[in-house]
Amino acid sequence: MAAFAHHILLSKPSFFFTKTLAKSNHGFTAFVSVSSPFIRRHKSTQPIAASLLELGGVQISKQDVVKDEPTNNVPDLIFTKLGLQLHRRDNHPLGILKNAIHKYFDSNYNSQFLKFDDLCPIVTTKQNFDDVLVPADHVSRSYNDTYYIDAETVLRCHTSAHQAELLRKGYTNFLVTGDVYRRDSIDSTHYPVFHQMEGVRVFSPNDWNDSGKDGTSYAADDLKACLEGLARHLFGAVEMRWVDTYFPFTNPSFELEIYFQEKWLEVLGCGVMEQEILKRGGKTDNVAWAFGLGLERLAMVLFDIPDIRLFWSTDKRFTSQFTKGQLGIKFKPFSKYPPCYKDMSFWINDSFTENNLCEIVRGVAGDLAEEVVLIDNFTNKKGMTSHCYRITYRSMERSLTDEEINELQWNVRDQVQSQMNVELR
Ligand code: DAH
Repeated sequence: MAAFAHHILLSKPSFFFTKTLAKSNHGFTAFVSVSSPFIRRHKSTQPIAASLLELGGVQISKQDVVKDEPTNNVPDLIFTKLGLQLHRRDNHPLGILKNAIHKYFDSNYNSQFLKFDDLCPIVTTKQNFDDVLVPADHVSRSYNDTYYIDAETVLRCHTSAHQAELLRKGYTNFLVTGDVYRRDSIDSTHYPVFHQMEGVRVFSPNDWNDSGKDGTSYAADDLKACLEGLARHLFGAVEMRWVDTYFPFTNPSFELEIYFQEKWLEVLGCGVMEQEILKRGGKTDNVAWAFGLGLERLAMVLFDIPDIRLFWSTDKRFTSQFTKGQLGIKFKPFSKYPPCYKDMSFWINDSFTENNLCEIVRGVAGDLAEEVVLIDNFTNKKGMTSHCYRITYRSMERSLTDEEINELQWNVRDQVQSQMNVELR
């Protein structure tokens, strides 16, 4: 269990923490990869989802989301996740957690917080980025990190995408829960679809005038008290600490960490909303706080769930362990099936990114891909760089046969070579 908490801690922090613009870790520049390797579609081993979905009152078909165009990088696998809305299932760990947080807000704020959990995940780049002041050259806007439907439309990469529109509509206390989408690496804490909850509370001068504090300090203190209370509601009497950080949408910005199983665990990001966002929402005289938390991260700790893929499992041995309203239940792993490791080495080129590799692996192996790690990396005298990746295949539900894995691995090799233009070694 300690190893698990360690793993969570090691997991990459939100890309909104970074101020670094233009270049990602991979040296990738925003928009350069419009000619992404995913223009060519590959067959998915995943089940085909319903051809017409109703999402947040909008009818969506597969052709609306997955398009064979250079400005689209949404694979079939991602389409199959749209509309599943795990956070709206009362017997699912994510639904149980969402309901527990709603309960905390209802009882502490007299049910003033309005809850939205069916807003459509297809949003404009304006909603996802501009409205929350994400700089034009911020790494989160790159095709390497975000799923684009076309140059102006994305699958939201955070629930903050709805802050501005709800403020404009006049809401002043609200919680937004939804599925969010990010191109990412493959390991036990990262999955390209996960769930977030956003909270916003707006104050008027009347609220802080008699407090002896200015609006910003008043909001920051209120925010901290609210979230400390929430952490105690979920985790009991835990040790907590506040860490100063950076987000484009808040100032000051903080992270809350709790001491859990001998490690500091980052649980959420928050801060006092940038005045510019309020101003654009017609609220010049107000001050607000906002927070965003990842439901999977909290649920993995609260329910002892060791791998993020389990949230998507329909295996009764998983689903039957959770009950509406019961937050404290610990997941009992059913037998762990053996992993299978396959290594592949290749000479990379300038456009190589690990996210692109992981997208191919997921496209071929789906949830059978457990982890992709770089295990060797060197540059030869001619300046050519070689990477060796170890892919772990494992099913959560059954033993895999050698034949099956070999076929997956040959498929991955094939597609890596043809789509990424790398030279296999
Ligand atoms: N949107 C951030 C992310 O996805 C989380 C977040 C941080 C939301 C601070 C907020 C906030 O509303 O104030 O990483």
